[in-house]
Amino acid sequence: MSSLTDLDWPLATERLVLRPLEPDDLDALWAYRSDPRINEWTGRSPRDRDELLVAFFSPEALAQTLVMEHAGEVVGDLMLKTTDAWGQADVADRTAGVEVELGWTLAAAHQGRGLATEAVRAALGICFDGLGVRRVTAGCFADNEPSWRLMERLGMRREGHGIEECLHRELGWVDGYLYALLASEWRSRPTTHGP
Ligand SMILES: CC(C)(COP(=O)(O)OP(=O)(O)OC[C@H]1O[C@@H](n2cnc3c(N)ncnc32)[C@H](O)[C@@H]1OP(=O)(O)O)[C@@H](O)C(=O)NCCC(=O)NCCS
Repeated sequence: MSSLTDLDWPLATERLVLRPLEPDDLDALWAYRSDPRINEWTGRSPRDRDELLVAFFSPEALAQTLVMEHAGEVVGDLMLKTTDAWGQADVADRTAGVEVELGWTLAAAHQGRGLATEAVRAALGICFDGLGVRRVTAGCFADNEPSWRLMERLGMRREGHGIEECLHRELGWVDGYLYALLASEWRSRPTTHGP
């Protein structure tokens, strides 16, 4: 299995350029990650630049984060976290690093134009065609409708509905959704799939 550092960067899509997060991106990331509208549903919600530094710029976090540039400006980020599948102990050597957990955030000013969908579509391509994993997953709060609508737009399947499984800082214990897509499904998708 490859890692993000093995791939060629940057990657251009129709309207975006994707590339690994770099230390110099701190101010650009803070500009939209400090927006309360963005932090309502995110897993990592840094309260200041120091927390942002710890959460996004550790070697481990840098290795699994891409930024989306639009017209030369960083407008969002993607997490591609390689994970192990579950398996029986005697075959566990075949479960290591075969999945990616995806995450995404797009600056509020750039939402509503399909840019996040475009970025996540490219991320699925990176996962399946570049990293060679067999399954991609993503989770969200059930009330984060823009996020699960995005996944359904891209053909990801809702595979789990956890009742009161996630703790939200204001809402308490609330429902969560798990979505997934297999490499075989990605390869057999209609070429015109999605917007
Ligand atoms: C999740 C998030 C990225 C979705 O943003 P978004 O703007 O809805 O997503 P897109 O950029 O793909 O835009 C899709 C919207 O633009 C519309 N659109 C316009 N042109 C489009 C195009 N060419 N292609 C696709 N959609 C297009 C779509 O219809 C859709 O609107 P709708 O949901 O009202 O139908 C955004 O809400 C966000 O960053 N939230 C905060 C962080 C967060 O919650 N992250 C996820 C944690 S699990």
